[in-house]
Amino acid sequence: MNAAVAPLTLTKDLLTGMEWSPAQVRELFHLAADVKAHPDRYRGALAGRFLALIFEKPSLRTRVTFEVGISSLGGATVFLDHTETKLGQRESIPDVAKNLERWVQGIVARTFTQESIDALAENASIPVINALSDRYHPCQALSDFFTLEERFGSLRGLKLAYVGDGNNVCHSLLSIGARAGAHVRIATPTGYSPDAAVISEAKRTARETRGKIELCASPEEAVADAQAIYTDVWTSMGQEEEVAAREAAFAAYQVNEALFAQAAPDAVFMHCLPAHRGSEVSKEVIDSPRSIVFDQAENRLHMQKAILLTLLN
Ligand code: CP
Ligand code: NVA
Repeated sequence: MNAAVAPLTLTKDLLTGMEWSPAQVRELFHLAADVKAHPDRYRGALAGRFLALIFEKPSLRTRVTFEVGISSLGGATVFLDHTETKLGQRESIPDVAKNLERWVQGIVARTFTQESIDALAENASIPVINALSDRYHPCQALSDFFTLEERFGSLRGLKLAYVGDGNNVCHSLLSIGARAGAHVRIATPTGYSPDAAVISEAKRTARETRGKIELCASPEEAVADAQAIYTDVWTSMGQEEEVAAREAAFAAYQVNEALFAQAAPDAVFMHCLPAHRGSEVSKEVIDSPRSIVFDQAENRLHMQKAILLTLLN
């Protein structure tokens, strides 16, 4: 391999995004930028490596970017959907982990609970990567801040307003945003705030990086002068029975033209996707030239290649 950027040594796993220091996140962004600019340098870097993808929930972006990412590095994947694995039902999670480690060099897991991903990692000697749980979506937030760095040049003090549900994506934006030294503002309806422990950890980290974490009383307060306005679905996978209650609770939290107009003049719109036009975001905003949702989606590929190079090398 003729790599310009030497692979980093981080933890065995990527379970939350909080296991990596601000400096390690910075180095990962540097590697992702090189992978994106010079994909040929990394072709074959993971030749002969196999990844098991365990997905208990549907996916477009995460599955395709991991499959294409490892293939372009010379490796291959084995996809296991919920009908095959039935984590903890057909077979215990420790047994699944102890089987997989004999055949493959890494596990990418999208599970209902964070505990399932943690249990895979505890019981397998190979790296485990969180591909979304009920609590975190670290690959998403790493790709998103990488996308913002490309757009604005620097993340130091960059103002990102997250409007909506204090969910997995919100948690990861808080923890990675704090590591990046960004200024993350959150506006959620009462009862849908992010977890207090995640907020505390992000605030502690932000003190170190001169970032800032703020909980705002309204969407308007959060977006004032922000350079990035981010939202996610009001009802995440696994919460389908709460749809009606959530639509009522989040009605005033739609990112539409009136709200977006209160952001900075060069502001961008962000969403992890899939999106529901007319609910959390208006069609006018997500389909406008200020929307960078497909840049975010593209960068999932480059960032996850950097993560794979780091953890599987
Ligand atoms: N943003 C994201 O993780 O998309 P998928 O659910 O399609 O993987
Ligand atoms: N919060 C959403 C993110 C999807 C990528 C969910 O968990 O369904």
